Amino acid sequence: MINRERVRRAFDEYVAAYDAQDPKIHLKIEHTYAVAALCERIARTVGAPDAELSWLCGMLHDIGRFEQIRRYNTFIDAVSVDHAAFGADLLFREGLLARFAPELSEADTALLECAIRSHSAYRLSPGLRETEAMYCNILRDADKLDIFRVDCVTPMEDIFNVTREEIETSAVSEAVRACFLERHAVPRGSKSTAVDFCVAHLCLVFELVYPVSREIAREQGYVDRLLNFSSRNAETRAWYAYMRSHIWE
Ligand SMILES: [Fe+2]
Repeated sequence: MINRERVRRAFDEYVAAYDAQDPKIHLKIEHTYAVAALCERIARTVGAPDAELSWLCGMLHDIGRFEQIRRYNTFIDAVSVDHAAFGADLLFREGLLARFAPELSEADTALLECAIRSHSAYRLSPGLRETEAMYCNILRDADKLDIFRVDCVTPMEDIFNVTREEIETSAVSEAVRACFLERHAVPRGSKSTAVDFCVAHLCLVFELVYPVSREIAREQGYVDRLLNFSSRNAETRAWYAYMRSHIWE
């Protein structure tokens, strides 16, 4: 049994050291609670052995983000730190986990670490055991589902460190279009224009593992809202029309 009250309290205390007025910090606090709830919902639907452990995966998955934002003021791992590995190091090597869940068994700690370390990897490593892969996939699906919400409620400028002008006028690069056509996520380093970041987030739909996750995505409606983006660039507008009619196929 996980003491959720303690986890929530420890989380609130941890983030109190950061500037909640900073929109990036604020969005990661909300994201954390949303991902935890989604993890639990997916875990219960797919019959994971311990839905509370999945909830804990959600609560701790982005703990590395707060220090990343304070030090580098960006979410872009490529120009700062790998936030998943950084967070996992804080929790499992530097002892931060004890503040949240000191009662956790060794086996559950290993599952938690596995899920957090690989939550933002382009692909899971093929050697994972079935249970490990399950906790990883639940967290990865939940994270993606809430990214669609965050994209709808947060100015893109704050998420991607680009200007509104750049988003509204840029074209979608060839490499990013190819990812959509091949129906998979955009690998890190393949994005070259501002609107590429928006399309790359839409491509996350293709990576949802569990049917319930796709159902949640459709029910939330955020993906459809993101697809209604109206670019000032005619080519990008046409590309969005194409994506709107093909994304859910
Ligand atoms: Fe993350």
